Amino acid sequence: MQNAAFSACNLDYVYIPFAVAPEKLGEAVSGLHALGVRGYNVTIPHKTEIIRYLDGLDKSAEDAGAVNTVLVDNGRMIGYNTDGDGLVCSLAEDLNFVPTMGTIVIIGAGGAARGAVAALCRAEAKRVIIVNRTFDKACALKSDMNQRYPEVFIEAVKMEELNEKYLPYTSLVVNTTSIGMNGDRIEFLNLAMLSKSAKVYDMVYSPLITPLIHEASGMGLMVSNGLGMLASQGERAFTIWTGQTPPKGLMKQFLTGICCS
Ligand code: ATR
Repeated sequence: MQNAAFSACNLDYVYIPFAVAPEKLGEAVSGLHALGVRGYNVTIPHKTEIIRYLDGLDKSAEDAGAVNTVLVDNGRMIGYNTDGDGLVCSLAEDLNFVPTMGTIVIIGAGGAARGAVAALCRAEAKRVIIVNRTFDKACALKSDMNQRYPEVFIEAVKMEELNEKYLPYTSLVVNTTSIGMNGDRIEFLNLAMLSKSAKVYDMVYSPLITPLIHEASGMGLMVSNGLGMLASQGERAFTIWTGQTPPKGLMKQFLTGICCS
């Protein structure tokens, strides 16, 4: 999708994937620097580990505690995180949802959840509820985000408390975990407790229709998978590297073409 956008903008850039073993990350970063690249993406399992090799972090990466995009600027390597803002953008485009609209339930408390909560807070979310299999991790994420964004009401909630106490007043549910990639349901989530106007976002995009998406859309709820977030984080990275905006919707179209062919 990056190459499609470079080509559409007549930019003389190329995007190439490299598989890098964890123990070779430092060498890979030095190599990219020596080659004079403009920037790169990093993904699992390097998103946190990369930080120690960089010269600075943008606030997006600092808050998320993870980097997915690096810009090499005047010899300095700066880490960004475009995942969270990609989510916020996809929520607007795919679900017509803006974070100020109401209570948001975040499922999960790992790296993806951290980036999501931080971006939702930056986008002026009013109330964020974090629910996770391991409650202590939800509490740790809540405390950290509370310190960074004291103006947002953030709560950590136990799985067994979610359905009756919180779901009826929830506007949006976001799954940040990998549950669903292998066809599993989110066992503790009872979608029937949501109001008919609630929306459901699953960051998973492979498969395109997870059990969560299937079940929620079957109940008439507005739903979206994570394809829009994948495209949006890429659009942001594109702009960080090139200073230009890619043609609107091109990356999403490209991904949709791949995923549906
Ligand atoms: P990522 O960076 O993709 O978020 P991670 O940091 O390993 O990955 O976090 C994975 C998240 O998915 C965690 O919140 C994890 O819950 P735990 O903290 O209890 O481990 C959650 N998760 C993964 N598989 C799960 C499952 N089968 N059931 C419930 N939660 C699961």
